[in-house]
Amino acid sequence: MDLVHSVADLRRALGGGTRTALVPTMGNLHAGHLDLVRIARGQARRTVASIFVNRLQFAPHEDFERYPRTLARDCEQLAAAGCDIVFAPGEATLYPEPQVFKVAPPPELADILEGHFRPGFFVGVCTVVLKLFACVQPDVAVFGKKDYQQLMLLRAMVRQFALPIEVVAAETVRADDGLALSSRNAYLSAAERSQALALIAALRELAAAVRGGRHDIEALQAAALGDLRARGWLPDYLVVRRRSDLQPPTAAQLAAGKPLVALGAARLGTTRLIDNLEF
Ligand code: PAF
Repeated sequence: MDLVHSVADLRRALGGGTRTALVPTMGNLHAGHLDLVRIARGQARRTVASIFVNRLQFAPHEDFERYPRTLARDCEQLAAAGCDIVFAPGEATLYPEPQVFKVAPPPELADILEGHFRPGFFVGVCTVVLKLFACVQPDVAVFGKKDYQQLMLLRAMVRQFALPIEVVAAETVRADDGLALSSRNAYLSAAERSQALALIAALRELAAAVRGGRHDIEALQAAALGDLRARGWLPDYLVVRRRSDLQPPTAAQLAAGKPLVALGAARLGTTRLIDNLEF
C-alpha cells in the first residue's frame, strides 16, 4: 500500500487507466469504514481511501480540534483491508489558499435536518468531496448510508455536475447490540455507551408505529422527542421522511406505504449521534 500526501505523488501513484474506487473518510477508522473499502474493492481494480479532517464542514463550536487523528493505526487497518493507496493530504495541500469557491447545495435538501442544525455543513462536505474527486479522479465512490442526507446530496451533486463517477451506497455497519458504528462513539463514556441504543430504538418505534397504521407523524415525532429528553438526551430531530427527497410524506403517501426513512440526531452528554432507518 502507498501512503501519499501531495497531489503530485497521488497522480504518480495512480498512473492511468485502472478503474479506481474512492472511499473518502476523515480517519479514525472503524469496521464501517473497512466495509466501505471491501465494497470499493468489489467495484474496481484499485482502491484509494482518503483521510482528511475537513475544517470546512465543522462550525467553530464543533469538534474539529478534538476529532481523533490516528493516521498510523488507520493505515495499518487499510493495508490489512487491501486498500491500495491512502491519500492523506495536509490542509496546505487541499486548501493551499482560502477555499473561496464552494459548492452551493440546494437548500431544500441541504438546509433541513443535519443542515438546519449544522449550518454550512453540507457546503463543506460537498466542496471537499468535489475536490477529492478532482484529485483522485475515481470511477466509483463509496459512501455509507449512516450519513443518509450526505449520501443523497453527494449523489445529486455527481448527477448535476455530470461527474463521471458511480456513487455506491453501503449499508450501516452496527455493533452487535445495534449501535451504528461511528468515529464519534469513541467520545462516549461507559455509562453513555450503555444508553446509546435509545436513538435507534426511538427510530425503530417510529417506523413500527407508522407501518402499524399510525399516520399522525407529527404527534409520534413529538412523543419520541419527549421520550429521549426524559432519558437525558438533547435531541435535535427525530422525523419520518420520504426516502426520495427527505420531505415529510403526505397522508396519501403514508396510506400508500411509500418508501420512508426515519432519521434522528441527538446529543448524549457532549457527543452528537445520528442514525436512520429505512422502512
Ligand atoms: O462522512 C465523512 O466522513 C465526511 O463527511 C466526508 C465524506 C469524508 C467528507 O469530509
